[in-house]
Amino acid sequence: MKKMKKGPVPFFIFWRIHMEIRKAEKKDFRTLEEISVASMSEPWREADFVSAEENEFATIIAAYDNDTPVGYAVSYFAADESELPSIAVSPAARRRGIGNALLTALFDEVRGHGAARMFLEVRGSNEVAINLYEKNGFITAGTRRHFYSDPEEDAFVMMKLL
Ligand SMILES: CC(C)(COP(=O)(O)OP(=O)(O)OC[C@H]1O[C@@H](n2cnc3c(N)ncnc32)[C@H](O)[C@@H]1OP(=O)(O)O)[C@@H](O)C(=O)NCCC(=O)NCCS
Repeated sequence: MKKMKKGPVPFFIFWRIHMEIRKAEKKDFRTLEEISVASMSEPWREADFVSAEENEFATIIAAYDNDTPVGYAVSYFAADESELPSIAVSPAARRRGIGNALLTALFDEVRGHGAARMFLEVRGSNEVAINLYEKNGFITAGTRRHFYSDPEEDAFVMMKLL
């Protein structure tokens, strides 16, 4: 009988992921601001998170790694529409599926409030975010000229049926 050729011993690395997606806590808004500042030219500030939290038509979802916030997504909703004004993942935590997980949780949350569509604006040059949105079912619905400053740029308006 032919002998099996010996190859490298297969091995598996098991590692625990303590990631949790849940509503953001007020005590963490300062950290969410830091993530936002590290991620975009027009970041959300602590006061923006506070005013969203006080708005009954807004929700703030955060990703917690061992209880430390590493990402967030915000949505406003009214009647059957919702919008996504801001989403960011801490630079060190990117490409681990957190952006996808935040969006999935946000979709569930706003659907629960009756939203049937979600809209957002994104810089035309932000290919990473556009990839994320397209992967999650958004399509480009239009362009807003000179929507952004610092640097000035057009925005793509994207829409998803929830
Ligand atoms: C956009 C952002 C939230 C994505 O977060 P993330 O946790 O890294 O995303 P995920 O790991 O869940 O990746 C989901 C998808 O996004 C896209 N994506 C993420 N990083 C990417 C990269 N570096 N290059 C290309 N596509 C990328 C891919 O389609 C990816 O799916 P894939 O892994 O199957 O290829 C994050 O890059 C970020 O915070 N960027 C700065 C802030 C920002 O631009 N916010 C949006 C403003 S409108």
